[in-house]
Amino acid sequence: MAPNVATSKRLGLQVLNEEDHLQSYHAIMSDAASGVWSTSSHGGTIEESRAKMFDRQPSKEKPWSQTWAICLIPEDGRETSKVIGAVGFPRECEIGYRIKPQYWGKGYMTEALVMFAGMWFELDENKKYDRLLAAADPANAASHRVLQKSGFTKGEYKEKAYQRALLGDEKSDLQLYYMDRP
Ligand SMILES: CC(C)(COP(=O)(O)OP(=O)(O)OC[C@H]1O[C@@H](n2cnc3c(N)ncnc32)[C@H](O)[C@@H]1OP(=O)(O)O)[C@@H](O)C(=O)NCCC(=O)NCCS
Repeated sequence: MAPNVATSKRLGLQVLNEEDHLQSYHAIMSDAASGVWSTSSHGGTIEESRAKMFDRQPSKEKPWSQTWAICLIPEDGRETSKVIGAVGFPRECEIGYRIKPQYWGKGYMTEALVMFAGMWFELDENKKYDRLLAAADPANAASHRVLQKSGFTKGEYKEKAYQRALLGDEKSDLQLYYMDRP
């Protein structure tokens, strides 16, 4: 299994790779409840998840594009940790994140984002960045709460800024958040 690049009390972050994570990434990305705020719909096939996984890896055009699996650290000393979510960069410096619904409300994403930000600012390739960004639909109360609890600050409010796949052509607003380099 891929090594943890950062750990917190209950969680580890692993750089997403096909061999270790495709099945669990597919379970997360194809989950309808997790995808309600997404800009793209998921037809439920593993090929779509694989394509998304490759799109969210570093490339010449998008060297900043990367995704990490959020894993539960096994309590019983087993080596294989369970993947419960993902965090990555759909846009440069702007994170997107998801947790499987059965793990919602247990503080996992807050714990993951605090750990993630600490790790991300420390990476050599990110020394040029002074700000980590996030954006939440005004109606996505859980996401706002997570960002606030993780230490993000409210920024600009953008009207009709993104298109939710679920709503077709209708555009939705976005509340931006930021976290400055500590
Ligand atoms: C947003 C999301 C990542 C939160 O993950 P999580 O592990 O449940 O988050 P946490 O447990 O750390 O914190 C959730 C907080 O939101 C609160 N919350 C959840 N639903 C809420 C609601 N409908 N209204 C108000 N607060 C809500 C919880 O009570 C908790 O706050 P508290 O600790 O003060 O009680 C998860 O719900 C998810 O994956 N959603 C779908 C994908 C998504 O929305 N991604 C973000 C796109 S911007």
